[in-house]
Amino acid sequence: MGEPNLAVEIGGISMKNPVIAASGTFGYGQEFAPFVDLNRLGAIIVKGLSLEPSPGNPPPRIVETCGGMLNAIGLENVGIEAFVREKLPFLQTFNTPVILNIYGRSIDEYVELAGRIQRLDAIAGIELNISCPNVKAGGAFFGTDPKRAFQVTKAVRQQTELPLIVKLSPNVTDIKTIARSVEEGGADAISLINTITAMAVDVENRRPRLASIVGGLSGPAIKPVALRMVWETAKAVHVPVIGIGGIMDVTDAMEFLIVGARAIQVGTANFVDPRATVEIVEGLKAYLIKHNIADIGNVTGSLVT
Ligand SMILES: Cc1cc2nc3c(=O)[nH]c(=O)nc-3n(C[C@H](O)[C@H](O)[C@H](O)COP(=O)(O)O)c2cc1C
Repeated sequence: MGEPNLAVEIGGISMKNPVIAASGTFGYGQEFAPFVDLNRLGAIIVKGLSLEPSPGNPPPRIVETCGGMLNAIGLENVGIEAFVREKLPFLQTFNTPVILNIYGRSIDEYVELAGRIQRLDAIAGIELNISCPNVKAGGAFFGTDPKRAFQVTKAVRQQTELPLIVKLSPNVTDIKTIARSVEEGGADAISLINTITAMAVDVENRRPRLASIVGGLSGPAIKPVALRMVWETAKAVHVPVIGIGGIMDVTDAMEFLIVGARAIQVGTANFVDPRATVEIVEGLKAYLIKHNIADIGNVTGSLVT
């Protein structure tokens, strides 16, 4: 057998392989360039952008937990204008698709952001964060209600022709209903999961470990929950699904592909090993060769039940 094919197409975005750097865990790409050849990634999703710069939540806003981490960064970011001026030119020197993750406090803000991005050069797509649990009256407001999830997706869809990925919150009772709503609203792809709402307590002073009390759990601890939700979603929609949640190595990545994901995102693992993404790319290739599989697409949805 010749070289296996790792390339995938996700909602109109062509990628060399299905391994994507997850939003908020890979900075604006430049921070990881000393460790990773950014040309080797399937795509890069930058830290969530808002219309105005945001300082995020007060510290402490990161806590290590058993098998994961709890964060309440609160979507700190430089804002879309500074991103375009200071961060984007560097990313444009690579041939890896750049996807902008955005969040707004209202539908109007999402639409305004999408409109500005539509006018930029060399942006491969938009990932709509309707799921961040850390912004009061913000993201989760849209991500936990099927009707609002539909409305924000549709409004952004009407504003942009760029490939549109909608990123779902796991903090819902029925992920399938939300997934179908955003598909109906015009999403080209669905990514999931964002972090799971969680908390930790310091028993000495009986205070919450996070200043904002509640934050989002990520890392290996959430993988089984994420897998179940990706499996359910992949069966419920026709658009491609991108699996996220506790993917630390190639075995984790394979699990998500097998249950139906066409691509995967690597988040918390980047903090443990900045080379996690490229190691997973290499591992996928080795898996295909070992199992004599010609195309990574043949792994997607191959779960034997
Ligand atoms: C420190 C941190 C910051 C994050 N920031 C964002 C963000 O700006 N936008 C977003 O959609 N998701 C954000 N996420 C969620 C991740 O992209 C990912 O969905 C989640 O962490 C689960 O994947 P993991 O277990 O591989 O980390 C963030 C996660 C962490 C840990």
